[in-house]
Amino acid sequence: MKKLFKFRYHSPSAQDTLRIGKKIGELAQKGDVILLCGDLGTGKTWLTKGIAKGLGVPKNYPITSPSFVFVHVYPGCFPLYHIDLYRLEKDVDWSLLGLEEYIFSEGVTVIEWAEKMPASLLPPQYLKIYIYFSNEGRDLEFVTNIAYFKQIGYYLKN
Ligand SMILES: Nc1ncnc2c1ncn2[C@@H]1O[C@H](COP(=O)(O)OP(=O)(O)O)[C@@H](O)[C@H]1O
Ligand SMILES: [Mg+2]
Repeated sequence: MKKLFKFRYHSPSAQDTLRIGKKIGELAQKGDVILLCGDLGTGKTWLTKGIAKGLGVPKNYPITSPSFVFVHVYPGCFPLYHIDLYRLEKDVDWSLLGLEEYIFSEGVTVIEWAEKMPASLLPPQYLKIYIYFSNEGRDLEFVTNIAYFKQIGYYLKN
């Protein structure tokens, strides 16, 4: 596995979180897996809305956490698979869930509550984003071994 790159960024507003998401969506390539970690209300779904925008998902397409189903699929320049593991039971049989179907797909997969995933299911390459409450805004920590996501700091400045 390539060395992990880390980058920390402060997002002062929900609007900025959307902007960051959009940049990520614009950088994303087929097969990418984006793991979102952070407490309830930190902005994982908001970030996903931005990612959808960056991937060209039509403007009025509803982007909401898949709570009662496991995955939402949105039509972008690649399919965007939006997964939320929040409601999964601790003793879930991961082999029955079929997460691999999305992780090793031709689309872009975004997983909320990725901290619940067992390490054995992590793909070899990923972008992981930890989101923390910080004053009025949020701190985001990017961790990745995907070359083009290592430029994220540069893209966020422009
Ligand atoms: N950088 C930010 N600063 C302040 N509020 C934010 C920021 N990013 C997102 N929010 C807000 O936080 C809330 C997060 O909601 P949501 O994305 O549903 O969280 P999660 O999916 O992590 O539970 C939204 O109301 C959104 O407006
Ligand atoms: Mg959510």
